[in-house]
Amino acid sequence: METALERNSSELHARHVLTPWLAQGGRKPPVIVRGEGSQLYDDRGRRYLDLSAGLVAVNLGHAHPGLVAAIGEQAARVAYVAPSLANDKRAELARAIVDLAPWPDGGRVFFTTGGGEANEDALKFARTLTGRHKVLTAYRSFHGSAPGAGTLSGENRRWPNEPGIPGVVRFFAPFPYRSPFHTRDAREEVERAIAHLEEIVTYEGRDRIAALLIEPVVGSNGVIVYPQGYLARVRELTERYGILLIFDEVMTGFGRTGEAFAAHTFGVTPDLITFAKGVTSSYVPLGGVAVRESLAAYFDDHPLPSGHTFSGHPLAMAAGVAALAAYRDEHLFERARQIEDWLRTRLDRLQRRHELIGETRGVGAFFGLELVADRETRVPLVPWQGSQSLQPFFDDLLAHGLYVLGRYNVAIIAPPLTIAPEELDEAFEILDGALQRLTRARA
Ligand SMILES: Cc1ncc(COP(=O)(O)O)c(C=O)c1O
Repeated sequence: METALERNSSELHARHVLTPWLAQGGRKPPVIVRGEGSQLYDDRGRRYLDLSAGLVAVNLGHAHPGLVAAIGEQAARVAYVAPSLANDKRAELARAIVDLAPWPDGGRVFFTTGGGEANEDALKFARTLTGRHKVLTAYRSFHGSAPGAGTLSGENRRWPNEPGIPGVVRFFAPFPYRSPFHTRDAREEVERAIAHLEEIVTYEGRDRIAALLIEPVVGSNGVIVYPQGYLARVRELTERYGILLIFDEVMTGFGRTGEAFAAHTFGVTPDLITFAKGVTSSYVPLGGVAVRESLAAYFDDHPLPSGHTFSGHPLAMAAGVAALAAYRDEHLFERARQIEDWLRTRLDRLQRRHELIGETRGVGAFFGLELVADRETRVPLVPWQGSQSLQPFFDDLLAHGLYVLGRYNVAIIAPPLTIAPEELDEAFEILDGALQRLTRARA
């Protein structure tokens, strides 16, 4: 039975909810009231396949029974414990995350409520640990929205924060499909990108830079997998100058690239890892900073320079413990590698059928599909960071039962790691239809 609230919730939503990043007028998204696995259902019973796991976040799919039970049980036991007290689930989750991290000497975890906060805290830790002030971040990056994390971001969602926090210096990272270094050769791209970075370090002062913060795979700025060797060279350069390397694994963490962390996928060990989203499969808001033991030990006799009311919130801790157990028991990191094969096959087929697709790229269960006006010149279908959007295309997908996260001319294909191949077939059929309609509309 539809309740009065459900009948009115579209209208109430439009009237009272401020939706992130969008102009508010004229929007009528479906009212999602239920989820199961890779499927979402609206208040009219219509079904949508979730091909982007929300915001690349619901790695386990919706309504996972183990997670639902763990959250309920924890709520009944104790729902809040002050961060200065200890808590069993907090200890268990921190230990489980450290066990997944790439540090032989172990590490420790500081919990936040989301990814942006984690990046801000990681920067504060790096500044405290090095006594240095500056931080390097890539232009094509997103690290969060609040003034600190927003300034760390390189792209245009940073602009409303400006002038922002001091000390953030940006660099260009490789992007073989749209090279900022004027080459189509991946090795040359890496060489030039590293030379550029080294020059920035020299001009900014080698002993003035606390950290370099980077997404090991660029997420919402186009799903860019760095060419082989780049991250290792960044590691080598940062180590040489005593700069701490922070991997922002908010999107890549917990199986997305086929391993617990992208650090494993690329065989590069950062000093700190920030995470969020997948740690609880986004059932409860949670983020955090994992710090390698040799650095974390500093805080044994120095106060930690951060704290939040919700740091280590028991509901989030219980969700995290259950999520990590599910990833392990259901072999979902391995499953992401299988999904990579399934996606490559389907994306290649789609690209052969549609001139509008300039490139598909990705790793694990994390792919981008870049739409272009011309394959030869690679002119994007709508300019990156311009005023146009492909919202009508993404709305058309939704109208045909497929939710896909998009930014400018890139669609992000990052399904729950529990998705079935038949569901992918259905999703790609809907994508195929929408691309046909888009092609016809442009003719
Ligand atoms: C790579 C990356 N870092 C940080 C964030 C910010 O995380 P949150 O929205 O939880 O603050 C995001 C959000 O999408 C992200 O993709």
